[in-house]
Amino acid sequence: MSSFTRVSRSAAKIARSRAEELRRRLIALGALDNSLKPFEEDGFVFFPLKELEGVRGIVEELGGELTRATFEVRERKPRTLREALSRRLPGHLLDKLPSSYDIIGNLILVDLCEELRDYAREIGEALLRIHPRAKVVLAKGETTGDYRIRHVEIIAGSGDTETIHREHGCVYKLDLRKAFFSPRLSGERLRVARQVLPGESVLDMFAGVGPFSILIARIQPSARVVAIEINPDAYRYLLENMKLNNVEDRVTPMLGDARKILENVREEFDRIIMDLPYRSLEFLDVGLRACRRGGIIHLYAVSGSLEDLSRLVENRAAELGHMVEVEAGREVMEVAPRRSIFALDLRKASQPLYGFKNRLSPGGLGWGLR
Ligand SMILES: C[S@@+](CC[C@H](N)C(=O)[O-])C[C@H]1O[C@@H](n2cnc3c(N)ncnc32)[C@H](O)[C@@H]1O
Repeated sequence: MSSFTRVSRSAAKIARSRAEELRRRLIALGALDNSLKPFEEDGFVFFPLKELEGVRGIVEELGGELTRATFEVRERKPRTLREALSRRLPGHLLDKLPSSYDIIGNLILVDLCEELRDYAREIGEALLRIHPRAKVVLAKGETTGDYRIRHVEIIAGSGDTETIHREHGCVYKLDLRKAFFSPRLSGERLRVARQVLPGESVLDMFAGVGPFSILIARIQPSARVVAIEINPDAYRYLLENMKLNNVEDRVTPMLGDARKILENVREEFDRIIMDLPYRSLEFLDVGLRACRRGGIIHLYAVSGSLEDLSRLVENRAAELGHMVEVEAGREVMEVAPRRSIFALDLRKASQPLYGFKNRLSPGGLGWGLR
C-alpha cells in the first residue's frame, strides 16, 4: 500500500506533445499547484491547478480541457531537524534536538544528548532527508588519544566513513574513524592562511590530514610549508591530499613526533601553527625554539578565558627564556561549560630574554616583560 497522500483538485488535461508548453504558460500565470505532482495517463498529462482565472483560454487554445483529477501530494523536504521530527518525537524532546551539526563531505556528524539516544535512528534519517547528498549520519562520541580520533557510531545511512570534504576551494580525503578533522576550524584556517606573506617558511606542527598546510600552499604559492603529523593514517591522507590539491612541491610532509623531529631541524620558521589544543602548551618550548625572532606562532589551547590563557602563555614563554606578545586572541569554540578552545597569535620578540626570567608581568595582555 502506498503511503502517499492524494487529493482531488481542478486539473488541466493536455496531450503529451503540448504538455511542456502548457506547463510553462501555467507557471507564468502562477496557476500551477506545485504542492501536487502532475501525472501522465493514456497519452495525456494532468496538471494540478491552484488558480482557474485565465487558464481555460490557454488550455483550450492548446487543445486541452479543464477537468478534475486526483494528485499525489509532493513530500516537501524538511528544512530543520525540528520540522522533520515534529510528528515523530515527543514534544519535550524536540527542544533537546541539536541546533547544529557538522557536514564533512557526505558524512553528517551530530552530537546527541543522552535523552535523544533512543531516537538516534529517527534523527539520523531525518538528517538524511534534509541533506539528500549525505550518505551516513554519525553520532559523536569522545575525541581521545594523541591522534585525537573521534569515536563515532553510524546511526543512519550506509557506507564507510571515508569521504572527500571541500573547504575554501581545496579537497580533503579523510576517514573520521582514522584521522582528526573538524570543519569548525575552517574559519581559523582561512584567517591564518591569509596572513602568510610571499616567501614565508611555515611550520604546521600538528598537521592532521593537511587543511592548514594545503590551504596556505594554495593561497600563498611562494610560501614553503613543513607539515608534521604523528598518526600514520592521517599522514597517509596528508600525502594524498597534497597530490589532490597539487601542492606537493610546496609542502614537505614529515611523519613522527613534532618534538623529536624538530630536535634535528636547524631551520627557524617565520610562522608556526600549533593546533593541538589539549596539549599545545606542552610543546611551547619546541615551537618557540623553531620560531625565528619576530616570527609568529598561532597557538590553539583550551582555557577558561582568553585573559587567563594569554597570561599563562606569556609567563610560560618567559620561563623558557623567550618574550612573546599576544598580538590577537579569539575564542574558537566552546568545548565544555566554561571551557573553550582559544586561538592566540603570538609574536616572538626580536630581542632575546636573558636574565629576566623572574621579572614577570603580573597580568594583562601585551609584552610579558615591560
Ligand atoms: C587537533 S588535530 C589538528 C589537525 C589539523 N591541524 C586540522 O586542522 O585538522 C591534532 C593533530 O596532531 C597530531 N599529533 C598529536 N601529537 C602529535 C605530535 N607529538 N607530533 C605531531 N603530530 C601530533 C594528531 O594526530 C592530530 O592529527
